[in-house]
Amino acid sequence: MKGKTVFICRECGHGSVRWLGRCPSCGAWNSFDEEVPGHPKGRLTRHGTGAQELADIEPDAEKARIPTGIAEFDRVSGGGIVKGSVTLIAGEPGVGKSTLILSAGAKIASGGKKVLYVCAEESLPQVRLRADRLGVSNVRNFFFLSESEVSAIRVSLDSVRPDFVIVDSIQLIYNAELDYPCGSLFQVRENAYFFIEYAKRNNVGIFLIGHVTKEGNIAGPKLLEHLVDTVFSFEGESLSNLRILRAVKNRFGSTEEIGVFRMEETGLSEVPEASRLFLSRKQSNLPGSVIFPSQEGRRTILVEIQSLVSPSYLGVPRRTFTGLDYHRVNLILAVLEKKMNLNLGTHDVYFNVTGGLRIAEPAADLAIAVATLSSFREKPPLNGTVFIGEVALTGEIRQVQHLVPRLKESARLGFQRAFVPRLPEDFRFHDMELVELGWLQEVSSRVLQGS
Ligand code: TYD
Ligand code: MG
Repeated sequence: MKGKTVFICRECGHGSVRWLGRCPSCGAWNSFDEEVPGHPKGRLTRHGTGAQELADIEPDAEKARIPTGIAEFDRVSGGGIVKGSVTLIAGEPGVGKSTLILSAGAKIASGGKKVLYVCAEESLPQVRLRADRLGVSNVRNFFFLSESEVSAIRVSLDSVRPDFVIVDSIQLIYNAELDYPCGSLFQVRENAYFFIEYAKRNNVGIFLIGHVTKEGNIAGPKLLEHLVDTVFSFEGESLSNLRILRAVKNRFGSTEEIGVFRMEETGLSEVPEASRLFLSRKQSNLPGSVIFPSQEGRRTILVEIQSLVSPSYLGVPRRTFTGLDYHRVNLILAVLEKKMNLNLGTHDVYFNVTGGLRIAEPAADLAIAVATLSSFREKPPLNGTVFIGEVALTGEIRQVQHLVPRLKESARLGFQRAFVPRLPEDFRFHDMELVELGWLQEVSSRVLQGS
């Protein structure tokens, strides 16, 4: 193939079909070299000189992680932040992203690393006020820059030479060279590229803060997810002070762990003992309320799944599921309709998971089904009982992962009985009564009170 002449930025490897006076990616002036076809340079050759046989490639050494010192944060990241990586922290406005990252930045700085906080959203006095509130105003090595234009930020980066950079928020960063408004997809993407290139080239850890709306679809975070190494989502309900940090994507670790915090007057406090936290204070047995031991990484957290099934006066009955996977719940409702002759087509169905946790595991199927049935029949489930099992389309209750830790934690918190899928012959667990269920059809008679 006869190649076309291209221009490559010698600073960051950004490619362009025409010569540019200034690189839109890294902001360098006069940095574009003409590339003669057949002699690839720049971005194409940064990782080696052509194809290599797999056996000849040296494996990457285990990347050095820098723990933040916030245990819940480190748990989610898999032991700390990898130098040279870019982490996006996404969340709704007001959830506490700036508070979280200010605490993490202060911890990293007091550990001897240089941290630069780029404040594009708030004034420095506002940030100082927050730092006073968190009691971190005297931390050394922690630098603050009130700036949102990329080339100006670049100048500060070059003079401060930080080990970590915080960008709060990426949506308010703009590049004056680009003919697009601040906050537009193009601006957000190009500026993210700038920070990503900077992180890799200088072996600097970068945190980008990104706002999302309830639907999670504002310009930025969704698009950024593909570009960055790690995506953390920071979540919480407006009425509760519980906050959950979860890894949505993690190039250097698992995405199973969650971190739990409580937003208090003086910042976020960590909640290592979270297993009981998401249950309502008083466990009274009410129709529609079911307890499910959810497995979040290495932790079991007991949650209350609430269902409300009530006659509908609408042409299309309402389906509102908070904290659960929409398609999964619809599937379970369909199985209930078909296998148990539940006429849900004439009922509105609402679901809620207390405390703002999101449950996507199939192991919650049985709990969801029991909650629905319990509300529909106006009969509470048995006292002191948890429900674990996946529901197949046939109505069969299937085995789940991590059954033993779920049972152990439930027993430890005082639950006396668990409904579980059919167990292997040699399965032993003595801390609570185990009731095996083979089919969803058995639920009515065995699970609900007064049946
Ligand atoms: P903030 O970190 O500014 O949220 P974000 O950056 O995600 O928009 O925090 C917002 C809320 O947290 C704000 O309503 C005040 C509250 N807050 C506390 O309750 N305690 C605190 O110590 C701080 C700093 C904030
Ligand atoms: Mg903020």
